Amino acid sequence: MAKTVLVSGGAGFIGSHVTVELISAGYDVVVADNMSNCDMTCFEGVKKITGREDLPLVKMDFCDAEAVEELFTTYKIDAVIHFAGFKAVGESVYEPLKYYGNNLTSFINVIETSRRHGCENILFSSSATVYGEPDKSPVTEKSPRKPATSPYGNTKQICEDILRDSVKAYPEIKGIALRYFNPIGAHPSALIGELPRGVPNNLVPYITQTAAGIRECLSIYGNDYPTPDGTCLRDYIDITDLAKAHVYAVRRMLEGKMEEEYEIFNIGTGKPVSVMELVTAFQKANGIKLNYKFAPRRAGDVTAIWADPSLANKKLGWKAERTIEETLKSAWDWQLHLDKTLGRK
Ligand code: UFG
Repeated sequence: MAKTVLVSGGAGFIGSHVTVELISAGYDVVVADNMSNCDMTCFEGVKKITGREDLPLVKMDFCDAEAVEELFTTYKIDAVIHFAGFKAVGESVYEPLKYYGNNLTSFINVIETSRRHGCENILFSSSATVYGEPDKSPVTEKSPRKPATSPYGNTKQICEDILRDSVKAYPEIKGIALRYFNPIGAHPSALIGELPRGVPNNLVPYITQTAAGIRECLSIYGNDYPTPDGTCLRDYIDITDLAKAHVYAVRRMLEGKMEEEYEIFNIGTGKPVSVMELVTAFQKANGIKLNYKFAPRRAGDVTAIWADPSLANKKLGWKAERTIEETLKSAWDWQLHLDKTLGRK
């Protein structure tokens, strides 16, 4: 019988792509989301892509312990992938208690309830933000974690610690943390993708909105960094590649292949790409001339960070496959799909 995976926050950007890949790998999926930072667009897209009109979506808040209990009573869950949480770096600085309250409480509820219901496998969506400004890249899982520069980043570190300590104390559960680098792009079908609210903070949605004429001009934050072209270096990972990493990680857990009760994997390409290179690649991939200008550095940005993904390559058998051009094309196709759906074009 197919194993059932609960995807908390499964109607969002990463969760929806992960749901698609889990279903195509033969898992049953229960999506749960409080819909606080998304609408039904991606969930409807997931149903279309997978042909699973009956896919369950439970609208609930993971901070509500009783609701989590009811969820685990209704469904026999074999593994949880926990995405539910707030993720705006800037907002977290102004509203730290909202971030600590929500992100920690929801995760504690997930772990507690999993234990009680015999769900052994807990996968946490962490972030390369835990490395802060690394002394050198590529970073391995053993590279030191640096003090977080925002409450949001701190919740990622604390949640990692909660999982590490919990699996140590409670032998009935085990955990994996996946540290994502910069997830970008959209599903090749253009039916699901990132839906930023208001003015996008992240680079690729800002690029696609500028290309679509929604924003006038992209500001490239800083061209005086100590990098080859003066702009920051990141490891941009295709969202479908990233989603597939979850399938490999869940399989590792469910098939009893973990070597320790708590494992961490970097999920990135291993290739540094500068902001300028990304902008150029977007223009080339889509035949679009983008309006951009150089602007002062953005506070809090790290100069350079990219992954050493060799542990995930070796232990999970996973590897990033899509080219940056394919990924940036998918980001643009998604923007066009959105504009059509929203009647912008
Ligand atoms: N950038 C621009 N112009 C923009 C937006 C971004 O030049 O309009 C640049 C940034 O300065 C940075 C690069 O593009 O050099 C990438 O910026 P993003 O905001 O897309 O991504 P970050 O690397 O800043 O953010 C990532 C994750 C966050 C995480 C953060 C922690 O997206 O979830 O790392 O540092 F919290």
